[in-house]
Amino acid sequence: MGLNYYHIKKNILRARKLVIKSTSVAGSGHPGGSFSMAEILGCLFYKHLKFDPSNPSWENRDRLVLSKGHASPGLFSNMAVAGYFPESELDTLRKFGSRLQGHPDLKCPGVEFCGGSLGTGLSYSIGVALAAKIDNKDHHVYTIIGDGESDEGQIWEAAMTASKYKLDNLTAFLDRNFIQQDSYTEQVMPLDEELVGDDISEMWKDASRWKTGDKWRSFGWNVLEIDGHRIEQISAAIEKANTTKGVPTIIICRTIKGNAVEHMEDNPQWHGKAPDLDIVPLINLELDSQFMIAPSIIAGDMTNLANEVKRCINGRADYIHLDVMDGQFVPAKTFDHNKIKELRSITPIPFDSHLMISEPVKHVRDYAEAGSDIITVHAEVCDESSFGEIHDLLKQHQVSVGLAINPETDLPEWSYKFLPTLDQLIVMSVVPGKSGQKYIPETHKKMSSLSPILKEHNFIGYVEADGGVTLENVGSCFEDGARAFVGGSSMIGQNNVREAIREFRHEILRARRKVLLEKAHQLGGSDLVNKWIGLHVVGKKKEKITKIAKETGLI
Ligand code: DX5
Ligand code: ZN
Repeated sequence: MGLNYYHIKKNILRARKLVIKSTSVAGSGHPGGSFSMAEILGCLFYKHLKFDPSNPSWENRDRLVLSKGHASPGLFSNMAVAGYFPESELDTLRKFGSRLQGHPDLKCPGVEFCGGSLGTGLSYSIGVALAAKIDNKDHHVYTIIGDGESDEGQIWEAAMTASKYKLDNLTAFLDRNFIQQDSYTEQVMPLDEELVGDDISEMWKDASRWKTGDKWRSFGWNVLEIDGHRIEQISAAIEKANTTKGVPTIIICRTIKGNAVEHMEDNPQWHGKAPDLDIVPLINLELDSQFMIAPSIIAGDMTNLANEVKRCINGRADYIHLDVMDGQFVPAKTFDHNKIKELRSITPIPFDSHLMISEPVKHVRDYAEAGSDIITVHAEVCDESSFGEIHDLLKQHQVSVGLAINPETDLPEWSYKFLPTLDQLIVMSVVPGKSGQKYIPETHKKMSSLSPILKEHNFIGYVEADGGVTLENVGSCFEDGARAFVGGSSMIGQNNVREAIREFRHEILRARRKVLLEKAHQLGGSDLVNKWIGLHVVGKKKEKITKIAKETGLI
């Protein structure tokens, strides 16, 4: 089975938007902690958790306990996306008579635990997990705790108890965002090491300062430490936890409070504050503008692709683009599914297989089974019926579905009916066949003529720019609507892949900030532009955004 990468990502996005909508309508609530755990909930709800929204008390369901109950907007938004109740009900958040309160409440079917009093959810989960053992039930208990509530002694009593009773049917997630209600956790009560100054990125940089895992290990838990915003890492950790016998598991997820909205990120102010209504459209646009970077390994040493994969991982790529060429659809030949299978054993990082092969319908199953997470086939070698077959097969395998068009190809009309469920569209900006070619400038025009079609046919997937993407043109590719960026020669072809990817992120971020400033200006003139800039109080963001606003004449 694939990771279901884009399916999870799209639902996380939907849930994040509902958090913003519901808290802004309520005028209060906790977006920061809802966003730090957004990917954890996404992996649970859309991949691992067993549940039935039409029968919330189904006996064999897994139990999800939100111990850090103040992040209830995050839980409720996912419950709505998952089908427990209509999304419109989120407009009643924190209102008298509503089932959706500031902390989860059992009057909302599907909620397992009243998380009003922090520090108690893990103890409750132990009771549920013990009961399941006694009753010989095989459902699993997943509990999300915060780092702020880890100051409570009860958490550590629970830690001792769960390991004494060998509760391997209990998995805890620590949403380690380094911020609690009043300030940085390492200043209030250090879980790792005391923080001197206000720069929490200091803690991120130096793994030798992370002590939280040691604490849990000494209490007898199986400890997994991951990046809590990377879907593949969360998913792999859950799988590992589920197969670890005789001990409970804690997955320590290093996260960013307010993740995905720049002005909320790492900012203690957004622990419990709702965004103003006039800022909401800007936040939604920012959420729609999340982007991914995917190096293409064929631009590296073809005799040592395993090493190229490792360079991508060290470079902090979001996923890896695998260009499969068969010597027929394009003259060159690269590798096939056997190579992908071999590479799969190295890492859980998502594999984005771009099949430049003729008759993909005959081979696509091999590529799914080899461990691809996204598979893109070319429109030039498909028709409605064969693409329909490919689409359904990939969805069954939890592999995201992509369609690619060559520079000379228009998006075929037969593809329109697939657009609402299509995950990725590659608009080639070189004639496929090799890396290192020049970007075809007409692609910009093509992209702008495509966007109304995509909109009209409810495409909510990601456009991937592929071919000749460089630091010089990546900003305009972003402005065209691309959200995933492939880089061969400009990333893998560089000595320092990590630095190259960092520069790409920087350029795309700059383009995104520009788009957001323009939107602010369009919606509320220079007042809104200034208000937007003023929200970015952490680090050097305000200066950088002000500079862009000045350069573009918006202030
Ligand atoms: C072109 C491939 C691209 C290409 C990217 O046939 O699909 O993925 O290798 O390499 P650059 O970025 O060098 O064009
Ligand atoms: Zn490609």
